[in-house]
Amino acid sequence: PESLTLARPVFFVGFMGAGKTSVARRLARSCRVASVDMDTYIERREGKRVKDIFAESGEAGFRAIETEVLRELGAKPDPLLVSCGGGVVVTPENHEVFRESGFVVYLHVTADEAASRISDVSTRPLFQNLEAARARAAERLPLYEAVADVTVDTAGKSVFAIAREVQRIL
Ligand code: S3P
Repeated sequence: PESLTLARPVFFVGFMGAGKTSVARRLARSCRVASVDMDTYIERREGKRVKDIFAESGEAGFRAIETEVLRELGAKPDPLLVSCGGGVVVTPENHEVFRESGFVVYLHVTADEAASRISDVSTRPLFQNLEAARARAAERLPLYEAVADVTVDTAGKSVFAIAREVQRIL
């Protein structure tokens, strides 16, 4: 299909480095629908980089903003591809938003592969060392699985291949 006939937003979730932003953007272009990256949206709204929000308000401050934005985007009646931050699943009330609105695509990646894809960890306050990232990824796995309507394994696949796979599913 060339165009998606989605009446509601589709959310991309998964660990940092899974390819959520790239895949949503790629798919948005080929399907001619809008895409929104939640972290970019938050940075514009707050006038600050994510890392500075973490530094000034802590993870809790960031999570509160993230939940407000997720609610806002989840309420949109439009076809929209939303790439979420990797930690969106750690806030229990976000699971309600996912359940009530839209369709959730979980892009699976291991912490080790994610590390090889991430070129600049300075923008990711929660990906500072591999050991901690592995533990964090393991902790989050059941949370991603709980919200996912569909899971796509991204191991060894290009953004293009992943986007095509998701397009077939939607
Ligand atoms: C986070 C992931 C980041 C960003 C923030 C926290 C996380 O998004 O929201 O640094 O807790 O995993 P990406 O998954 O786009 O890197």
